Amino acid sequence: MEISSVGVVGAGQMGNGIAHVFALAGYDVILTDVNEAALRNAIATIERNIERQVSRGKVSAEEKAAAMARITTTLTLAEVGPCDLIIEAATERETVKQAIFEDLLPHLKPHTILTSNTSSISITRLASRTDRPEKFMGFHFMNPVPVMQLVELIRGIATDQDTWDKMHAVVRKLGKTAASAEDFPAFIVNRILMPMINEAVYTLYEGVGSVQSIDQSLKLGANHPMGPLELADFIGLDTCLAIMNVLHDGLADTKYRPCPLLTKYVEAGWLGRKTQRGFYDYR
Ligand code: CAA
Repeated sequence: MEISSVGVVGAGQMGNGIAHVFALAGYDVILTDVNEAALRNAIATIERNIERQVSRGKVSAEEKAAAMARITTTLTLAEVGPCDLIIEAATERETVKQAIFEDLLPHLKPHTILTSNTSSISITRLASRTDRPEKFMGFHFMNPVPVMQLVELIRGIATDQDTWDKMHAVVRKLGKTAASAEDFPAFIVNRILMPMINEAVYTLYEGVGSVQSIDQSLKLGANHPMGPLELADFIGLDTCLAIMNVLHDGLADTKYRPCPLLTKYVEAGWLGRKTQRGFYDYR
């Protein structure tokens, strides 16, 4: 069965980026969220971001119009159930994700593939709570989704080969590149990226360097497009802390202990760009 309709659950930064790239690649997309304002913002953001691509000559005005026409929104989760592929991109909390999959189950078609854009939670555990662990995978996009080339594909213990092959074909159709990962805490990207960010926070905490000198060192000394603290603000410090906790708990190794300064910033509500304050002040 060809995948042509895609349900995206969660209209935040990742969800709207995912809807954007699927619509541009010719898929019919239904975007759902519990919050009507989030859906409105998502459509406005997608429109603005595709327009950036039009103004740079990467997408034509006709392609933009066709992509926007392929996206519909709904507040009713059940309406995405009949899609060929569902991508959960809700808050990075396991109870929230589990509740979404449980609510979706009665509305799915037999062939529907379920995926989660989780950046660190066990795919095997999420899959085990559904009626189709063999048709369940991790499907992890990077932020900003329209720009980043990589999609991490994560195989749960029960994922079957047919589902795996279909999702590889979807990544190709999106014009992106897949990296295959087995289901262990934080997979590949965040297993490597988050300890680096956490180490940058320790470097600040121990007074080795200032925010500016740490970021400049990695930008100019290692050719990273963003310094690690700037990147942490971009990702969200709460997300960084949550992923460090998954690594620390899941691998039971003190080398993954979250830096107390990262915890303190999160407790202060300084979550980075989204709250206008993190390692940098955006107010
Ligand atoms: N939609 C469409 N296009 C976008 C866009 C968006 N949301 N954001 C940026 N762009 C485009 C711009 O239009 C621009 O296009 P051109 O090259 O055609 O001019 C290009 O991307 C570069 O953007 P800017 O010129 O505005 O800014 P920049 O050169 O500083 O790049 C950046 C911005 C792409 C974000 C770059 O700083 C970067 O790559 N940063 C690192 C991002 C990163 O590491 N992401 C992964 C985070 S980890 C993750 O996501 C996993 C997880 O689970 C936490």
